[in-house]
Amino acid sequence: ARGAGTPADLAGRHVVVSAGGTREPLDPVRFLGNRSSGKQGYALARTAVARGARVTLVAANSELPDPAGADVVHVGTAVQLREAVLKAAADADAVVMAAAVADFRPARYAEGKIKKREGQEPEPVALVRNPDVLAELSAERARPGQVVVGFAAETDDVLANGRAKLARKGCDLLVVNEVGERKTFGSETNEAVVLASDGTETPVPYGPKEALADVVWDLVAPRLA
Ligand code: CTP
Ligand code: CA
Repeated sequence: ARGAGTPADLAGRHVVVSAGGTREPLDPVRFLGNRSSGKQGYALARTAVARGARVTLVAANSELPDPAGADVVHVGTAVQLREAVLKAAADADAVVMAAAVADFRPARYAEGKIKKREGQEPEPVALVRNPDVLAELSAERARPGQVVVGFAAETDDVLANGRAKLARKGCDLLVVNEVGERKTFGSETNEAVVLASDGTETPVPYGPKEALADVVWDLVAPRLA
């Protein structure tokens, strides 16, 4: 629901948000995954609905309830997420990649459960690269003027890593989070800097994920074609 003072600056717009973390199966019972809860992406979807947008949420393995008013597409793997995001992006004004997409997946999927063998060491798990959805969206905009936003969780030289990543990915905005043991994953709050391709940097103070989501839409709205 729109609160008093919520802008309707996304009215008539279609926005796509990816959320959660992909899981890359090894066998019918096991996967390679990550700790993304989906909370930031779901907050982006809810705030975009509140600001008047038509929202497609591509949700990877999140246990959160579907946000009211959004079209939710549930996916498992990075390959499935790519397919769903590219399909929804075809007529989108903006795409926000908040999902944690696995960089690699197991090279082989075992149709039967992998068993241990008496006296044998395990085989190493061979991995292959997954497609980079954000780079692909940025390089081949489905619509002229489509705004593409990425997220990056960094450690160490957070800002320098973020600037290099923004340039490498070719997106319009990159939301950079510093991660640590008690920061970001599964938490209700976030702290970030939003880097833009025009060189501007918007610090976002420690606060709820909804507040960061609203800052992202505040930066997306004036960039819409
Ligand atoms: N991303 C993506 N497809 C991938 C990997 C990442 O679309 N295969 C997107 C994420 O959704 C996020 C952004 O790219 O919006 C940055 O993800 P990140 O993991 O920080 O970037 P990488 O290029 O994978 O760099 P790193 O080697 O640091 O993991
Ligand atoms: Ca990565």
